[in-house]
Amino acid sequence: MAETGHISVLAAEVLAGLAPKPGGTYVDATFGAGGHCRALLDALDGSGRVLALDRDPDAIIRGEALQKVYPDQLTILHAPFADLGQALTSWGVERVDGILFDLGVSSFQLDQPGRGFSFRFDGPLDMRMDHSRQSGCQTAADLVNTLNDRELADLFFRFGEESRSRKIARAITMDRKKTPFTTTAQLAQLAERVIPNRKRGIHPATKIFQALRIAVNGELDQLQQGLEAAMTALAVGGVLVVISFHSLEDRIVKQSFRMASTQPRVTGPAALLPQTQAAPLPFRQLTRKPIIPTQAEQARNSRSRSAKMRIIQRVAPADQSTVAGGGVL
Ligand SMILES: C[S@@+](CC[C@H](N)C(=O)[O-])C[C@H]1O[C@@H](n2cnc3c(N)ncnc32)[C@H](O)[C@@H]1O
Repeated sequence: MAETGHISVLAAEVLAGLAPKPGGTYVDATFGAGGHCRALLDALDGSGRVLALDRDPDAIIRGEALQKVYPDQLTILHAPFADLGQALTSWGVERVDGILFDLGVSSFQLDQPGRGFSFRFDGPLDMRMDHSRQSGCQTAADLVNTLNDRELADLFFRFGEESRSRKIARAITMDRKKTPFTTTAQLAQLAERVIPNRKRGIHPATKIFQALRIAVNGELDQLQQGLEAAMTALAVGGVLVVISFHSLEDRIVKQSFRMASTQPRVTGPAALLPQTQAAPLPFRQLTRKPIIPTQAEQARNSRSRSAKMRIIQRVAPADQSTVAGGGVL
Protein backbone atom coordinates (compact mmCIF):
# COMPACT_ATOMS: atom_id res chain seq x y z
CA MET A 1 0.00 0.00 0.00
CA ALA A 2 1.52 3.32 -1.05
CA GLU A 3 1.89 5.97 1.63
CA THR A 4 -0.58 8.76 1.08
CA GLY A 5 1.20 11.35 3.22
CA HIS A 6 -0.02 13.32 6.20
CA ILE A 7 -1.79 16.67 6.05
CA SER A 8 -1.12 18.77 9.16
CA VAL A 9 -4.35 19.70 10.94
CA LEU A 10 -5.17 23.33 11.84
CA ALA A 11 -1.77 24.38 10.45
CA ALA A 12 -2.42 28.15 10.35
CA GLU A 13 -4.14 28.12 13.74
CA VAL A 14 -1.23 26.23 15.35
CA LEU A 15 1.23 28.81 14.05
CA ALA A 16 -0.95 31.69 15.22
CA GLY A 17 -1.26 30.01 18.63
CA LEU A 18 2.47 29.41 19.06
CA ALA A 19 3.24 32.91 17.72
CA PRO A 20 6.93 32.00 17.25
CA LYS A 21 9.30 34.79 18.22
CA PRO A 22 12.79 35.23 16.77
CA GLY A 23 15.36 33.40 18.87
CA GLY A 24 12.64 31.47 20.73
CA THR A 25 12.84 27.88 21.98
CA TYR A 26 10.05 25.48 21.06
CA VAL A 27 9.03 21.84 21.41
CA ASP A 28 7.06 19.77 18.93
CA ALA A 29 6.08 16.85 21.16
CA THR A 30 4.55 14.84 18.27
CA PHE A 31 6.79 15.24 15.21
CA GLY A 32 4.84 12.78 13.00
CA ALA A 33 5.38 13.75 9.38
CA GLY A 34 7.01 17.01 10.46
CA GLY A 35 4.49 19.37 8.84
CA HIS A 36 3.86 21.57 11.88
CA CYS A 37 7.53 21.43 12.79
CA ARG A 38 8.63 22.62 9.36
CA ALA A 39 6.12 25.49 9.47
CA LEU A 40 7.43 26.49 12.90
CA LEU A 41 11.06 26.42 11.75
CA ASP A 42 10.19 28.39 8.62
CA ALA A 43 8.44 31.00 10.78
CA LEU A 44 11.46 31.26 13.09
CA ASP A 45 13.29 32.50 10.01
CA GLY A 46 16.83 31.38 10.78
CA SER A 47 16.84 32.05 14.53
CA GLY A 48 15.56 30.05 17.48
CA ARG A 49 15.43 26.29 17.86
CA VAL A 50 13.06 23.37 18.07
CA LEU A 51 13.21 20.07 19.95
CA ALA A 52 10.96 17.48 18.29
CA LEU A 53 9.90 14.19 19.87
CA ASP A 54 8.14 11.13 18.57
CA ARG A 55 7.85 7.66 20.04
CA ASP A 56 7.65 6.10 16.57
CA PRO A 57 11.12 5.23 15.21
CA ASP A 58 9.79 5.53 11.62
CA ALA A 59 8.91 9.21 12.25
CA ILE A 60 12.46 9.84 13.47
CA ILE A 61 13.91 8.35 10.29
CA ARG A 62 11.49 10.43 8.19
CA GLY A 63 12.65 13.52 10.13
CA GLU A 64 16.22 13.21 8.85
CA ALA A 65 15.28 15.15 5.70
CA LEU A 66 14.08 18.16 7.72
CA GLN A 67 17.08 17.85 10.00
CA LYS A 68 19.29 18.40 6.93
CA VAL A 69 17.38 21.61 6.09
CA TYR A 70 17.72 22.95 9.66
CA PRO A 71 20.90 21.29 11.03
CA ASP A 72 21.55 23.94 13.70
CA GLN A 73 17.98 24.62 14.71
CA LEU A 74 16.28 21.23 14.87
CA THR A 75 16.93 18.33 17.24
CA ILE A 76 14.78 15.21 16.89
CA LEU A 77 14.60 12.66 19.70
CA HIS A 78 13.02 9.22 19.81
CA ALA A 79 11.11 9.53 23.09
CA PRO A 80 7.57 9.45 24.44
CA PHE A 81 6.30 12.89 25.41
CA ALA A 82 5.68 11.73 28.99
CA ASP A 83 9.51 11.94 29.20
CA LEU A 84 9.56 15.56 28.02
CA GLY A 85 11.28 16.71 31.25
CA GLN A 86 14.23 14.33 30.73
CA ALA A 87 14.34 15.16 27.01
CA LEU A 88 14.68 18.87 27.82
CA THR A 89 17.39 18.16 30.38
CA SER A 90 19.37 16.16 27.82
CA TRP A 91 18.91 19.05 25.36
CA GLY A 92 20.28 21.40 28.04
CA VAL A 93 17.15 23.55 28.27
CA GLU A 94 14.90 24.25 31.27
CA ARG A 95 12.22 26.63 29.98
CA VAL A 96 10.66 26.98 26.53
CA ASP A 97 8.46 29.51 24.75
CA GLY A 98 5.97 27.15 23.18
CA ILE A 99 5.01 23.48 22.99
CA LEU A 100 2.76 21.65 20.54
CA PHE A 101 0.97 18.33 21.05
CA ASP A 102 -0.84 17.07 17.92
CA LEU A 103 -2.19 13.85 19.39
CA GLY A 104 -3.02 10.45 17.94
CA VAL A 105 -1.47 8.81 14.91
CA SER A 106 -0.29 10.18 11.57
CA SER A 107 -1.62 9.10 8.18
CA PHE A 108 1.74 7.38 7.64
CA GLN A 109 0.96 5.12 10.59
CA LEU A 110 -2.73 4.65 9.76
CA ASP A 111 -2.19 3.89 6.09
CA GLN A 112 0.51 1.25 6.54
CA PRO A 113 -1.18 -2.14 6.87
CA GLY A 114 1.94 -3.51 8.56
CA ARG A 115 1.41 -1.26 11.59
CA GLY A 116 -2.03 -2.73 12.27
CA PHE A 117 -3.77 0.54 13.23
CA SER A 118 -6.60 0.38 10.72
CA PHE A 119 -9.48 -1.98 10.01
CA ARG A 120 -9.46 -0.68 6.43
CA PHE A 121 -6.50 -2.93 5.59
CA ASP A 122 -5.51 -6.41 6.58
CA GLY A 123 -2.30 -6.56 8.56
CA PRO A 124 -0.82 -7.82 11.82
CA LEU A 125 -2.88 -6.82 14.87
CA ASP A 126 -0.08 -4.67 16.28
CA MET A 127 -0.91 -0.95 16.94
CA ARG A 128 2.30 -0.11 18.82
CA MET A 129 3.45 3.42 18.05
CA ASP A 130 6.90 2.40 19.25
CA HIS A 131 7.45 -0.91 17.51
CA SER A 132 11.17 -0.99 18.29
CA ARG A 133 12.27 -4.07 20.18
CA GLN A 134 13.26 -2.14 23.30
CA SER A 135 9.77 -0.57 23.74
CA GLY A 136 8.54 -3.67 25.61
CA CYS A 137 4.94 -2.73 24.63
CA GLN A 138 2.36 -5.47 24.21
CA THR A 139 0.66 -5.60 20.82
CA ALA A 140 -3.10 -5.40 20.30
CA ALA A 141 -3.04 -9.14 19.51
CA ASP A 142 -1.36 -9.81 22.89
CA LEU A 143 -4.24 -8.01 24.65
CA VAL A 144 -7.00 -9.58 22.55
CA ASN A 145 -5.61 -13.09 23.08
CA THR A 146 -4.81 -12.89 26.80
CA LEU A 147 -7.23 -10.56 28.63
CA ASN A 148 -10.25 -12.26 30.14
CA ASP A 149 -13.87 -11.48 29.28
CA ARG A 150 -14.29 -8.79 31.92
CA GLU A 151 -10.95 -7.11 31.26
CA LEU A 152 -11.68 -6.92 27.52
CA ALA A 153 -15.18 -5.55 28.12
CA ASP A 154 -13.78 -2.90 30.52
CA LEU A 155 -11.12 -1.93 27.99
CA PHE A 156 -13.66 -1.48 25.15
CA PHE A 157 -16.01 0.46 27.43
CA ARG A 158 -13.41 2.74 29.04
CA PHE A 159 -11.24 3.53 26.04
CA GLY A 160 -13.77 3.11 23.22
CA GLU A 161 -16.99 4.15 24.98
CA GLU A 162 -18.39 1.06 23.24
CA SER A 163 -21.85 0.26 24.61
CA ARG A 164 -21.75 -3.34 23.28
CA SER A 165 -18.45 -4.05 25.02
CA ARG A 166 -19.61 -7.21 26.86
CA LYS A 167 -21.06 -8.78 23.75
CA ILE A 168 -17.88 -8.14 21.77
CA ALA A 169 -15.62 -9.38 24.58
CA ARG A 170 -17.62 -12.61 24.89
CA ALA A 171 -17.43 -13.22 21.13
CA ILE A 172 -13.66 -12.66 21.18
CA THR A 173 -13.00 -15.07 24.01
CA MET A 174 -15.18 -17.72 22.29
CA ASP A 175 -13.55 -17.27 18.88
CA ARG A 176 -9.97 -17.28 20.13
CA LYS A 177 -10.40 -20.78 21.61
CA LYS A 178 -10.44 -22.02 18.01
CA THR A 179 -8.03 -19.53 16.41
CA PRO A 180 -6.02 -16.83 18.19
CA PHE A 181 -6.37 -13.32 16.74
CA THR A 182 -3.37 -12.28 14.67
CA THR A 183 -4.76 -9.90 12.03
CA THR A 184 -6.79 -6.68 11.82
CA ALA A 185 -9.17 -8.38 9.36
CA GLN A 186 -10.06 -11.10 11.89
CA LEU A 187 -11.05 -8.50 14.47
CA ALA A 188 -12.86 -6.29 11.95
CA GLN A 189 -14.87 -9.30 10.73
CA LEU A 190 -15.79 -10.23 14.28
CA ALA A 191 -17.08 -6.67 14.87
CA GLU A 192 -19.11 -6.83 11.64
CA ARG A 193 -20.65 -10.11 12.76
CA VAL A 194 -21.41 -9.08 16.35
CA ILE A 195 -22.55 -5.51 15.54
CA PRO A 196 -24.23 -5.96 12.16
CA ASN A 197 -25.93 -2.59 11.61
CA ARG A 198 -23.56 0.25 10.80
CA LYS A 199 -24.47 3.70 12.07
CA ARG A 200 -24.12 6.53 9.55
CA GLY A 201 -21.33 4.78 7.66
CA ILE A 202 -19.25 4.26 10.81
CA HIS A 203 -17.54 0.88 10.73
CA PRO A 204 -18.56 -1.34 13.68
CA ALA A 205 -14.90 -1.93 14.57
CA THR A 206 -14.14 1.81 14.98
CA LYS A 207 -14.52 1.97 18.75
CA ILE A 208 -12.75 -1.29 19.58
CA PHE A 209 -9.79 -0.32 17.40
CA GLN A 210 -9.63 3.05 19.18
CA ALA A 211 -9.81 1.32 22.57
CA LEU A 212 -7.05 -1.16 21.76
CA ARG A 213 -4.78 1.57 20.38
CA ILE A 214 -5.22 3.65 23.53
CA ALA A 215 -4.52 0.63 25.76
CA VAL A 216 -1.51 -0.64 23.78
CA ASN A 217 0.17 2.77 23.88
CA GLY A 218 -0.99 3.89 27.34
CA GLU A 219 -2.19 7.02 25.57
CA LEU A 220 -4.22 8.61 28.35
CA ASP A 221 -1.46 8.25 30.96
CA GLN A 222 1.03 9.57 28.42
CA LEU A 223 -1.19 12.59 27.84
CA GLN A 224 -1.64 13.35 31.54
CA GLN A 225 2.10 13.08 32.21
CA GLY A 226 3.02 14.92 29.02
CA LEU A 227 0.76 17.87 29.84
CA GLU A 228 2.19 18.14 33.35
CA ALA A 229 5.75 18.07 32.04
CA ALA A 230 4.88 20.63 29.36
CA MET A 231 3.25 23.07 31.77
CA THR A 232 6.25 22.79 34.09
CA ALA A 233 8.59 23.57 31.21
CA LEU A 234 6.84 26.72 29.96
CA ALA A 235 8.57 30.06 30.51
CA VAL A 236 6.39 33.02 31.55
CA GLY A 237 4.56 34.08 28.39
CA GLY A 238 5.05 30.61 26.87
CA VAL A 239 2.11 28.74 25.35
CA LEU A 240 0.99 25.13 25.21
CA VAL A 241 -1.08 24.19 22.16
CA VAL A 242 -2.88 20.82 22.17
CA ILE A 243 -4.89 19.24 19.36
CA SER A 244 -7.00 16.25 20.42
CA PHE A 245 -9.08 13.89 18.28
CA HIS A 246 -11.59 12.24 20.59
CA SER A 247 -13.55 13.05 23.71
CA LEU A 248 -11.36 11.06 26.14
CA GLU A 249 -8.31 13.10 25.13
CA ASP A 250 -10.15 16.40 25.05
CA ARG A 251 -11.58 15.79 28.54
CA ILE A 252 -8.06 15.38 29.96
CA VAL A 253 -6.80 18.53 28.22
CA LYS A 254 -9.84 20.55 29.29
CA GLN A 255 -9.59 19.46 32.94
CA SER A 256 -5.82 19.99 33.13
CA PHE A 257 -6.15 23.48 31.66
CA ARG A 258 -9.04 24.34 33.97
CA MET A 259 -7.16 23.18 37.07
CA ALA A 260 -4.06 25.13 36.10
CA SER A 261 -5.95 28.37 35.48
CA THR A 262 -8.45 28.34 38.35
CA GLN A 263 -7.98 29.75 41.83
CA PRO A 264 -8.30 27.02 44.48
CA ARG A 265 -11.64 27.20 46.32
CA VAL A 266 -11.23 27.77 50.06
CA THR A 267 -13.55 25.49 52.03
CA GLY A 268 -14.04 24.49 55.69
CA PRO A 269 -12.94 26.71 58.60
CA ALA A 270 -10.34 28.49 56.44
CA ALA A 271 -13.21 30.03 54.45
CA LEU A 272 -14.24 32.00 57.59
CA LEU A 273 -10.82 33.60 58.04
CA PRO A 274 -10.14 37.09 56.65
CA GLN A 275 -9.07 36.86 53.02
CA THR A 276 -5.33 36.81 52.56
CA GLN A 277 -3.78 37.89 49.28
CA ALA A 278 -4.23 35.02 46.81
CA ALA A 279 -1.11 33.88 44.97
CA PRO A 280 -1.27 34.71 41.26
CA LEU A 281 -2.61 32.03 38.95
CA PRO A 282 0.14 30.36 36.94
CA PHE A 283 -1.82 29.96 33.68
CA ARG A 284 -4.43 31.70 31.57
CA GLN A 285 -6.56 29.84 29.05
CA LEU A 286 -6.42 31.49 25.64
CA THR A 287 -9.27 29.36 24.28
CA ARG A 288 -12.45 29.21 26.37
CA LYS A 289 -13.96 27.05 23.65
CA PRO A 290 -11.80 24.78 21.50
CA ILE A 291 -10.77 25.92 18.04
CA ILE A 292 -12.04 23.53 15.36
CA PRO A 293 -11.18 23.25 11.65
CA THR A 294 -13.18 25.32 9.18
CA GLN A 295 -15.65 23.54 6.91
CA ALA A 296 -13.21 24.01 4.05
CA GLU A 297 -10.42 22.26 5.99
CA GLN A 298 -12.77 19.44 7.01
CA ALA A 299 -13.75 18.96 3.36
CA ARG A 300 -10.09 18.96 2.30
CA ASN A 301 -8.88 16.66 5.08
CA SER A 302 -11.47 14.30 6.53
CA ARG A 303 -9.09 13.36 9.35
CA SER A 304 -9.39 16.92 10.70
CA ARG A 305 -13.13 16.55 11.39
CA SER A 306 -12.82 15.55 15.02
CA ALA A 307 -9.92 17.91 15.87
CA LYS A 308 -10.17 20.29 18.83
CA MET A 309 -7.40 22.71 19.69
CA ARG A 310 -6.93 24.31 23.11
CA ILE A 311 -4.24 26.77 24.19
CA ILE A 312 -2.97 27.79 27.62
CA GLN A 313 -0.33 30.38 28.51
CA ARG A 314 1.92 30.62 31.55
CA VAL A 315 1.44 34.03 33.13
CA ALA A 316 3.26 33.68 36.47
CA PRO A 317 6.49 31.95 37.45
CA ALA A 318 6.21 28.46 38.92
CA ASP A 319 7.34 29.36 42.44
CA GLN A 320 4.84 32.20 42.94
CA SER A 321 1.60 30.56 41.92
CA THR A 322 -1.01 28.07 43.08
CA VAL A 323 -3.55 26.00 41.21
CA ALA A 324 -6.93 24.47 41.96
CA GLY A 325 -5.42 21.02 42.58
CA GLY A 326 -3.59 22.57 45.54
CA GLY A 327 -0.14 22.06 44.02
CA VAL A 328 2.31 24.43 42.48
CA LEU A 329 3.01 24.05 38.78
C1 LIG B 1 -1.00 13.38 14.38
S1 LIG B 1 0.64 12.87 14.26
C2 LIG B 1 1.53 14.40 14.29
C3 LIG B 1 1.60 15.05 12.94
C4 LIG B 1 2.48 16.27 12.89
N1 LIG B 1 2.02 17.32 13.76
C5 LIG B 1 2.61 16.78 11.48
O1 LIG B 1 2.26 17.94 11.19
O2 LIG B 1 3.08 16.03 10.62
C6 LIG B 1 0.96 12.28 15.87
C7 LIG B 1 2.37 11.76 16.10
O3 LIG B 1 2.56 11.73 17.51
C8 LIG B 1 3.26 10.58 17.86
N2 LIG B 1 2.89 10.28 19.24
C9 LIG B 1 1.69 9.91 19.72
N3 LIG B 1 1.75 9.73 21.05
C10 LIG B 1 3.02 10.01 21.41
C11 LIG B 1 3.71 10.03 22.66
N4 LIG B 1 3.10 9.68 23.79
N5 LIG B 1 4.98 10.42 22.68
C12 LIG B 1 5.63 10.79 21.53
N6 LIG B 1 5.04 10.76 20.31
C13 LIG B 1 3.75 10.39 20.26
C14 LIG B 1 2.79 9.53 16.88
O4 LIG B 1 3.76 8.51 16.76
C15 LIG B 1 2.61 10.35 15.60
O5 LIG B 1 3.77 10.30 14.82
